[in-house]
Amino acid sequence: EKNIKILAIESSCDETAAAVVENGRKVLSNVISTQIDIHTLYGGVVPEIASRKHLERINQVVKEALKQASVTLEDIDAVAVTYGPGLVGALLVGTAEAKAIAYAAGKPLVGVHHIEGHIAANYIENQDLEPPFMCLIVSGGHTHLVVVEDYDKFNIIGRTRDDAAGEAFDKVARSIGLGYPGGPKIDKAAKLGNPDAITFPKAKMSDNPYDFSFSGLKSAVLNYLNHAKMTGEEVNPNDLAASFQKAVVQVLVEHAIRGTKEHGFRKLALAGGVASNSALRASLKEACEKNGITLYYPSPIFCTDNAAMIGAAGYYEYKKGRRSGWDLNAAASLKL
Ligand code: KG4
Ligand code: ZN
Repeated sequence: EKNIKILAIESSCDETAAAVVENGRKVLSNVISTQIDIHTLYGGVVPEIASRKHLERINQVVKEALKQASVTLEDIDAVAVTYGPGLVGALLVGTAEAKAIAYAAGKPLVGVHHIEGHIAANYIENQDLEPPFMCLIVSGGHTHLVVVEDYDKFNIIGRTRDDAAGEAFDKVARSIGLGYPGGPKIDKAAKLGNPDAITFPKAKMSDNPYDFSFSGLKSAVLNYLNHAKMTGEEVNPNDLAASFQKAVVQVLVEHAIRGTKEHGFRKLALAGGVASNSALRASLKEACEKNGITLYYPSPIFCTDNAAMIGAAGYYEYKKGRRSGWDLNAAASLKL
């Protein structure tokens, strides 16, 4: 059978990315131009700046991806692109680029859901992983517990009621002065701290045991900081980071294991930027071993936003015969 090569483009947030992926699993190139250094100055992603930077960089990033894969547009079978969810101005740059390339080169266009991409990141290094399986998606914008029924079929059984897990990491990091993006900074600081130094509340959801809530935990951290400020108590940022991280990880692990068992799965995959958190990986690994569940997760480079994951998801959409029209538009709040 012929090898299918997908050129993939991702620009939903603050990474301008392009990749070439073969048969959904083999990454021939994966180019990421990050804007983190710019947005750090503002303590978070500034949408207008993100769009402008995408526009400045996208052509070069695509060229580089083709070059590193040693292919030309002629060798490509389809162009896949993230069309939502995300920042609308940022998404527009990627979709316009993908449409222009696909049209000019006479190749089919495949619009991809960003979260579907995060899930598909697991196929890249786990050649044996196939649906169905349970997936915990934890990123800066999303926290979902999803049954992956097929490559293109998902059933969300739990979601966050308020903040996403990564958002909580970013907000707490900012409040203790660690800067943006907070996840990796907290991960690092937590290694030097005592996770049992401070007891933070675990959010309980009464009606859906798989749902998440992180705003209460975030408030508890802020209250702790305010109290310390008023009483002049010294705050150890490493202890705070470790204790906060422990509270988040506990809830994520509990819900993921419970969901996997109760739905009769023996395979659990982890996806999204927070999936690279070392405490989450370690704790989930231990819990999975205890419960006879095989745990899958992508390398850190495929956890945070990248285009290789869009190429993986795009391949399976392409195989199913899905094609997007030239009217493909950015969809900021696209549903999975
Ligand atoms: O998937 P992603 O790149 O973008 C979204 O689609 O949202 O996720 C970014 C999020 C940020 O909130 C970042 O702080 C978090 O992932 N993150 C981490 C770690 N690395 C990235 N959170 C915790 N621990 C990490 N090591
Ligand atoms: Zn993402």
